[in-house]
Amino acid sequence: MEVATSILSVKKEKCIQTFYNLETAGTDYFHIDVMDGKFVKNDTTELMTEYSEYLNSITNVPLDVHLMVEDVMSYIKSFIIFEPRNITVHYEAAKDEGELLSWITYIKEHNCKAGISIKPNTEIEKIYNILPYVHTVLIMTVEPGKGGQELIPETIDKIKKLKEYISKNNLEVDIEADGGINLDNVEKIREAGCDIIVAGTSIIDSSNYKETIEKLKSCF
Ligand code: DX5
Ligand code: ZN
Repeated sequence: MEVATSILSVKKEKCIQTFYNLETAGTDYFHIDVMDGKFVKNDTTELMTEYSEYLNSITNVPLDVHLMVEDVMSYIKSFIIFEPRNITVHYEAAKDEGELLSWITYIKEHNCKAGISIKPNTEIEKIYNILPYVHTVLIMTVEPGKGGQELIPETIDKIKKLKEYISKNNLEVDIEADGGINLDNVEKIREAGCDIIVAGTSIIDSSNYKETIEKLKSCF
């Protein structure tokens, strides 16, 4: 299992040192939580733009962009220039499947992997039609909007269900879980069939990034 560190709570004054420490600690991705103040209450556009630009210029660790926004296409265009490994859009932000596919196609045509994310209350079956077109499904294990929340246990069943569907249909899609993941619940997430976990608070608030990331990966 890979680890994507959410840099949502990284303080600006400490960001250079923190990014360096996360890279040497072995994070597999920097997870960039982009919020527009509309799709969710908080607005992180300015800070995440600044961090993405900076990270693209200093590191080879891939960027994993998670768009929690209403005006999806213009945000894809703003973030694609930072050459992320993948961009994930929300199922709930699209008016229909056609619009969703137009975003996914645009992302893939620009040398980037495409992901689709669903909120805790969205049924997993809703995205089955889209699976052949995406590289990743990001299952929100908390309500999108802020870090430091507690994982909603029912979302683990969605991971299991999706994993079974992916295997049964021979699809090549990675499952990523995002929100409230820590050393106490990561084993359950792994058992459910997750490929990538996103962790913010549990890494950033820990005293030793390397140890925490290694433990998250191997699930002690
Ligand atoms: C929530 C974000 C997450 C989250 C991760 O809207 O998508 O990436 O903040 O942070 P923790 O691990 O603190 O829940
Ligand atoms: Zn996220």
